[in-house]
Amino acid sequence: MSNTELAAAPRSQYVDFWNSVLVPKFVRWRHILVGGLTLHSAKVFPSLAVRAGDAVVDAGCGFGDTAMQLARLVGPKGSVLAVDCCDGFLEYGRRDAKAAGIDNITFLEADVQTYPFSPVHDFCFSRFGTQFFENPVAGLRNMRKSLKPRGTMTMIVWRGINDNPWLGFAKEVVLQYLPPPGENAQTCGPGPFSMADQDVVTKQLEIAGYKDIQFEQIDAQVFVGKDLDDAVAFQLAIGPAGEVYREAGKAAEQRHDEIAKALKAELAQYEEPNGVMMNSSSWKVTAKNSG
Ligand SMILES: C[S@@+](CC[C@H](N)C(=O)[O-])C[C@H]1O[C@@H](n2cnc3c(N)ncnc32)[C@H](O)[C@@H]1O
Repeated sequence: MSNTELAAAPRSQYVDFWNSVLVPKFVRWRHILVGGLTLHSAKVFPSLAVRAGDAVVDAGCGFGDTAMQLARLVGPKGSVLAVDCCDGFLEYGRRDAKAAGIDNITFLEADVQTYPFSPVHDFCFSRFGTQFFENPVAGLRNMRKSLKPRGTMTMIVWRGINDNPWLGFAKEVVLQYLPPPGENAQTCGPGPFSMADQDVVTKQLEIAGYKDIQFEQIDAQVFVGKDLDDAVAFQLAIGPAGEVYREAGKAAEQRHDEIAKALKAELAQYEEPNGVMMNSSSWKVTAKNSG
C-alpha cells in the first residue's frame, strides 16, 4: 500500500475514538498512565529477549516511554519503530526522545493491524496495545509480518477485571449509582480484558502464525493517584468506571458529588504515603514467528 493509499484508507471507529475521546483524557492523566503503568512493565523489561543492535517494533506505543526504554536496550546500532494510531501521543514521544538525546526511534502514525511492515525486525513488543485491535487475529498476524523468521513477539495484556482491582474496584462503586453502559456505548475496541483468556489468546496467536507461545503471570502494584482526589478523578475519567460515568451523561454529572464521595471513602484503604496504590495483574505473552 502506498503512503497516499494509507492516508486515504478509512479509519476504524475505534481508532477514531482513541483520537477524539481518549487522547485528551490520556494526556490529562499521563502522570498515572506512564508513571503508574511503568511500575508494572518494570517487572517485564529485565527478561525481554532484546539484544544490542536489534531492530524492534513497539506496537501501540502511546506516549513512547517503552519505545525509549527499548531504544536504550538496543543501543546506537539498533533501532525502534514506534507505531501508534494517534499522533497526539506520538508528539510526546518525539519530544521526550529528543530531550533525552535518543535518536534511534522512528515514531510512526499508523494502524498496527494494517500497516505494511517490512519483515526486518528481531523483536516486536506491545504494552497494553493489542487488546484494542478491532480484529485481534489480523492485528497479531500483521505484527508477526514485521518480524524476521524466528523473530520474537512479546505483548503485555491485562488478566481479568477481578484480577485488576485498579480498574475493577471503582467500576463496582460507580455501578451502585449509575446504569451499566448500553449496547451502543462508544468504546475503544474490544477493551482492556479482551486478551485475559489464555486459551482464546493461544488460539488467536496460532491462527496468526506464531509458535512457541508462552504465558507468564505478572503481578504488580500500580500508582493510581497522587492523593485520593486525584485517584477519584482518574477513575471517573478513564477505564471501566470512566466508561460507565461517560456513558451515563447528564445523570452522572448530576450525581457527581455523591459518587465521588463514595469512591473517595472506598479508595481510602489504598492510600499510602506516596499516593494511591492498587494491585494489577497481566500476562506477559511471548511467541515466535513460525515463518
Ligand atoms: C492502553 S494504551 C497503551 C499505550 C502504551 N503502550 C503504554 O503502555 O503506555 C493503548 C494504545 O494502543 C493504541 N492503539 C489502539 N489501537 C491501535 C491500532 N489499531 N494501531 C495502532 N495503535 C493502536 C492507542 O492509541 C494507545 O496508544
